[in-house]
Amino acid sequence: MPNQPSIRPSDPRFSCGPTRKRPGWEASALGTSSLGRSHRASLPKQKLGEAIERAAAILEIPADYRIIIVPASDTGAFEAAMWSMLGQRGVDVFSWDAFGDRWLKDAQNELKLPDLRVFHAPYGELPDLSAADPARDTLFTWNATAAGLKVPHADWISDAREGLTFCDATSAAFAMEMPWDKLDVTTFSWQKCLGGEAQHGMVVLSPRARKRLSDWRPAWPVPSVLALFGAGDEQSVMFEGSTINTPSLLATEDFLDALRWAAKEGGLSGLIARSHANLAVLTQWVERTPWIEFVAGDEASRSNTSVTLKFAASQTSDLDEEGVRALVKRMTQMLEREGAALDILPYPKAPPGLRIWCGPTIDTDDLAALCPWLDWAYAEARG
Ligand SMILES: Cc1ncc(COP(=O)(O)O)c(C=O)c1O
Repeated sequence: MPNQPSIRPSDPRFSCGPTRKRPGWEASALGTSSLGRSHRASLPKQKLGEAIERAAAILEIPADYRIIIVPASDTGAFEAAMWSMLGQRGVDVFSWDAFGDRWLKDAQNELKLPDLRVFHAPYGELPDLSAADPARDTLFTWNATAAGLKVPHADWISDAREGLTFCDATSAAFAMEMPWDKLDVTTFSWQKCLGGEAQHGMVVLSPRARKRLSDWRPAWPVPSVLALFGAGDEQSVMFEGSTINTPSLLATEDFLDALRWAAKEGGLSGLIARSHANLAVLTQWVERTPWIEFVAGDEASRSNTSVTLKFAASQTSDLDEEGVRALVKRMTQMLEREGAALDILPYPKAPPGLRIWCGPTIDTDDLAALCPWLDWAYAEARG
């Protein structure tokens, strides 16, 4: 039985969202000059515009793409895109976790799209991406946070496509390379890879996506909070930071703080390197630990942000699924009590196991410190 480790992670927060704030974050570092003012006044507007400019720079967004800030985090961003832009042509939905399933459910039950093809895979597997039809719109998640599986690349997306690609990139943007030429509508929130406050999302629009917004109106009613049509205008004030409704200026200040940190870390390549170094620590631990395995057996599709783990079947053959869930509960309760790890339970609808955030705001040393605690908690919970 391993001894209780003596070194704890300096920060035990390993949640997949909201995620840990950047190293060194302090509330007192946030600017407050925009608070209590109209978001249409020049200073607050300039801050919102700065958030767009800085995000575009870090994400290396092409010059002819545009970014807008929308309400309701990534869900608001993705649903606004679906409600405002779908319906012109057939739609292919690829889903392999709870979030992809959410977009699928909307397409089926709410928008009731008449020409819908569904490509679904159970947790731990990817659907057949090669089935995507370039004549149709394609909906998919770059990194399925609940499953811990990402798309390995975008070669399956045609350069000559007529449809648009809609990509939920919330746990990928700022931690993975995004091939923008393959992505027409990309969404993410402020609360994932950069550890910002929730409530706002961003939508990145290709020129063809903006053309859809200017030329096409869906048959269904679109509530104003989901209406992106203003972004169909090439001169839209949304690209400068005007928002559909009143934004949180405190969340904006916090996101600016995260973006400044990201720039100091070396921009996108620095953020990706931090995330991969984190995954490498867990990989070394999994390789030397007989009781644990990655859910994503294939390295190319293994997430480097939302890392999902399952118990080796050979080590837990005495337990049914409920038994494994109880084991996870005992382990995570012990780890929380000891201040070693918070929020490493899997997504509620996912199979039992552990889920550990390895995004850029996590310090590699903290993951290294966490591994012996996992060994200890497993042994104690089994003992
Ligand atoms: C892939 C994915 N899509 C959508 C969401 C929903 O994001 P939000 O709660 O920021 O709207 C999440 C949240 O974890 C997610 O991981």
